[in-house]
Formats: sequence, C-alpha cells, structure tokens
Amino acid sequence: MAVVDGSIAAAAGTLAVVIPVKEAADKSAIGLRQVRLRLFGDGRRTFTFSGTIDFTMEKTVNTLAEFESEATRFADLLTRNQEGATLVTLRGELGVGKTAFTKAVARSLGVEEIVNSPTFVLEKIYLLGGPTAKFKRLIHIDAYRLEKGGDLAPLGFDRLMQDAENLILLEWPEKVADVLPVPTMKISLTVQDDDSRIISYG
Ligand SMILES: Nc1ncnc2c1ncn2[C@@H]1O[C@H](COP(=O)(O)OP(=O)(O)OP(=O)(O)O)[C@@H](O)[C@H]1O
Ligand SMILES: [Mg+2]
Repeated sequence: MAVVDGSIAAAAGTLAVVIPVKEAADKSAIGLRQVRLRLFGDGRRTFTFSGTIDFTMEKTVNTLAEFESEATRFADLLTRNQEGATLVTLRGELGVGKTAFTKAVARSLGVEEIVNSPTFVLEKIYLLGGPTAKFKRLIHIDAYRLEKGGDLAPLGFDRLMQDAENLILLEWPEKVADVLPVPTMKISLTVQDDDSRIISYG
C-alpha cells in the first residue's frame, strides 16, 4: 500500500489527486497504477477509499545521453505484471526518439545486438538471458504502418500478450487503439524547440 499526501478535489463523479513530485518520482510510483488512498478529513473523521488513479510524471532531458539514461532508469524500475505481458506504449511524432528509448531499454536489459527501428519488419523479438532476468523476451513493435488494430493479429500479438515473461514496447499505439489492451505504462515523448525532450509517464 502506498500512502500518499496530496490535495484532492472531487466533482460530479470525478476525482483528481495531485501527488507531490517527490512521491511520483520515487520507485514506488513508477509502474504502479493501483494505489490505496487514505484521506484525512477535518481531523476527527477519516475518509478512506481505494481505486485506480492515473497520474502523469514528466521529465525533461536535454541531450541524447540524458534521454538514454532516463530510459535506463525506467528499465531498472520496471517490474513485470503478475499475469500477462508488460505492455509499454510509446507515443510521439516521427523522429522524437521512440526507437532510441527502446534501444536504451533493450541495452539495459542485456540485449547486445543492435536494436533498429522495426518499421519495415513491424516486429522484432529479442531473447533476454540470465536466471535473474525480469523478462525472457523483449518484443519491439512499430505499428506506424498498420492500418487498423486487426493488423496486429498476424504478429501473434494476442499470444505474446498472454505471457508474463514478455516485455512489449509498442511505437505508434494510436494506430491500433481499437484493439490495444490497457498498457502497463504509457510513455509520451515531445520534442521542444531547443531539441530537449519531455518524457511523460502515465
Ligand atoms: N532525446 C534525443 N535527443 C537528441 N536526438 C535524439 C533523441 N532521441 C532520438 N534522437 C535522434 O533522433 C533520430 C530519430 O530517433 P528515433 O528513430 O528514435 O525516433 P522515433 O520516434 O522512433 O521515430 P519514428 O516515428 O520514425 O519511428 C535518431 O537519429 C536519434 O539518434
Ligand atoms: Mg521508431
């Protein structure tokens, strides 16, 4: 259970929770979407509820080296799902760094071969070795050329999603949004005028 101090606002069935940056930036927050909150009211009454909250954490990096080390940090903190594959989606315009991020994750998980954009082969599967490996396979999918979600089926996507030993990184999730399960982590990349990147986790 994560106990979070924050401010809370509720209106018409919606609930917004603001998590202080120091909380969101720590290990317990990354990849954790299920949080039980205990809310303290006026000091005499305690309100409690549990539920799922979505939060976004943003980081700005200035250089490719910083970008890669942030991807490495992400890979280190990533934990596998109990059931089913761990699915990470990467959104962002052409050339923003989705493949570069994937490459850095792959390297940090021990992939030695060169990870290239799978744009033309759509999907690449890398075997991850070692008895302590968190995942057995890293699957890199680039959905840019897919026209609809149904085009994922020939890649064996449903079967790959069933295996908790798989880590799937998928570029251009918006192309297959109609069939995509809820990702474990949604990453959005934005490039700014000075070439820095905003990495947002949600
Ligand atoms: N954070 C960064 N800072 C500077 N250059 C970067 C950064 N990320 C990627 N690049 C460079 O931009 C180029 C394109 O990156 P990449 O192939 O990762 O983009 P992409 O988002 O996967 O694009 P696409 O949508 O075409 O698949 C590469 O040459 C890469 O080195
Ligand atoms: Mg790419």
